[in-house]
Amino acid sequence: MSLLIYNIGLLATPQGQSARGGAAQGDIYTLKDAYLLIRDGRIAAVGQGMPRDYEGETLDAGGRLCTPGLVDAHTHLVFGGWRAHELALKLQGVPYLDILAQGGGILSTVRATRAADEEALAEKALDVLDGMLALGVTSCECKSGYGLDTEQELKQLRVTRTLQDRQPMTLVSTFMGAHALPEEYRGNREGYIDLVINDMLPRVAREGLAQYCDVFCEQGVFSAEESRRILLAAQALGLGAKIHADEVEAIGGSRLAGEIGAVSAEHLIAADDAGIAALKAGGVIACLLPATSLYLGKPFARARDMVNAGVPVCAATDFNPGSCPGSNLQLVMNLACWQYRLLPQEVLTAVTLNAAAAIGLAGEVGTLEAGKRADAVLWDTDNLDYIFYRFGQNLAHTVIKDGHIVAGT
Ligand code: NIG
Ligand code: FE
Repeated sequence: MSLLIYNIGLLATPQGQSARGGAAQGDIYTLKDAYLLIRDGRIAAVGQGMPRDYEGETLDAGGRLCTPGLVDAHTHLVFGGWRAHELALKLQGVPYLDILAQGGGILSTVRATRAADEEALAEKALDVLDGMLALGVTSCECKSGYGLDTEQELKQLRVTRTLQDRQPMTLVSTFMGAHALPEEYRGNREGYIDLVINDMLPRVAREGLAQYCDVFCEQGVFSAEESRRILLAAQALGLGAKIHADEVEAIGGSRLAGEIGAVSAEHLIAADDAGIAALKAGGVIACLLPATSLYLGKPFARARDMVNAGVPVCAATDFNPGSCPGSNLQLVMNLACWQYRLLPQEVLTAVTLNAAAAIGLAGEVGTLEAGKRADAVLWDTDNLDYIFYRFGQNLAHTVIKDGHIVAGT
């Protein structure tokens, strides 16, 4: 099976198999009048003009911009219900963490997720994945964390596993049992942490249900010390560590990420200089979520300082029913330019190669280079700036996953 995509007006891609920070984050290889030759779902060659003696299927790119398929490295994809009923509260100024402390927020989604059966959860998630694919997203990370007991967490992770066979996007699964303290453990934090470490994590690892473990390290949720214990236990079982750090308050999450060599630290809205230095020292990818800042009316993370400090920055949606009920990575790309002051080239790396590295896929996707999976987007334009400059409508023209056209024409 081969496919030649020719007449690409501009091919633009980062290069390599690992995250890029500092000046290298903005290093984008470009080629005009390019082609992409695909064999058996992988990129066989990238070149200019036309390859010699090609016989097989072809696709005329019509002079369009071609980039790698986008990677959404942070979503809470599988959940029951929505939280539209919290909108008015938020508009009236009730803080996100107060809603959670009153048994709403994440805990309200936990009730809805526990009540839903696997098929209902899967169908709802498939709908979202469909929309993401049409926007050019070809790989995506999915966190659990709305079950908060062993069976319910495993249920959520099993749903994610079944989704892999029901749609084309590559999915990476993260266990996030430490997303909130469930109501039945109120007053018994130790009991719940013990359950996460000694019951949930071993089962998740044994059943191969997740590649990563994430913790919500936040004031009133899990402390840095509790997060450390959980993440060290996860690492000992072979899972990579991720951490929701400094989203609302800086309570030591970014420092912890650096100390334990987490693969990525998420949010980092309140990260200070010491936190940024710790990320750099620990080789941690900063996974920034600007749509969440927008939605919660919070400041935007110090992305410019992070890039300048040499921390590889990735940008993702954080799609979830509470702090970001939207799954549009193209909007995240816009916000990363306008609010983070990152350049289009830097943002392209943030949503492709660096995002792939944040979920362990940088050897497989995230760039347009021979040997990688053939995941690509043809855009409704011939230049890179345009897709960061326009917003509010889908600018992806054709989406290719593993060498197949999966969205668009
Ligand atoms: O990344 N902060 C913790 N988790 C999500 C929100 C989850 C929810 O509100 O349901 C986040 O913002
Ligand atoms: Fe999140």
